[in-house]
Amino acid sequence: MAAILVAGITAMLAGFFANKAVRPHEVAAHGSTEVAAGSAAAAAPQMPDPVMALIAGADIEQGKKLSKACAACHTFDKGGADGVGPNLWNVMTRGKAAESGFSYSAGMGAKGGKWTYDDLNHFLWKPKKFISDTKMNFIGVKKPEDRAALIAWLRTLADSPSALPSAGDIAAEESALSANAPAEEASAPPATETH
Ligand code: HEC
Repeated sequence: MAAILVAGITAMLAGFFANKAVRPHEVAAHGSTEVAAGSAAAAAPQMPDPVMALIAGADIEQGKKLSKACAACHTFDKGGADGVGPNLWNVMTRGKAAESGFSYSAGMGAKGGKWTYDDLNHFLWKPKKFISDTKMNFIGVKKPEDRAALIAWLRTLADSPSALPSAGDIAAEESALSANAPAEEASAPPATETH
């Protein structure tokens, strides 16, 4: 009797471990598909690299220098005139498309909410990818360090500048943008998008 019982339990345990043993193969197979999809996307990244971790330590003077690329269309001083683009004083605190008297694109008007660090990162990376009909005819700023410096400088253009990104904001951005995801994943809005 006891021998049969032991044999039965042994068989069950063997079955149990056999099931477990299958798992690593599944994981490995899944992992390699992800790598393949990721390398296909590497040719044309669908999302910008994260910038929030760079903003607090960014070189604001460098941001100001880089803004020469924007100055053909934008003024930055308080009360400055609108040009081809709107004046950018208070841009992070006043809300999107909120410069009164400036005629924005329909897409910019429909976005709503304030300019978050995440939104600015996406818009300045590739303006037309963020707002397809934007009137801002500008190719974008490729290097994350340059976008961080520009955004850090834009932040200072305010009567009371917005809070710097928190550790939580930084972590959320890194997980949303970390994979610099393949096309099918990039259509989902990033987790930090709040509008
Ligand atoms: C060729 C002209 C041009 C250049 C160069 C340009 N912009 Fe713009 N920008 C515009 C226009 C036009 C708009 C309004 C876009 C719309 O309505 O879709 C705009 C809008 C913006 C907004 C949103 C403003 C708001 O009130 O919501 C920001 C932020 C911005 N630009 C930042 C920049 C920065 C930073 C640079 C330089 C790295 C830059 N722009 C370069 C023309 C330009």
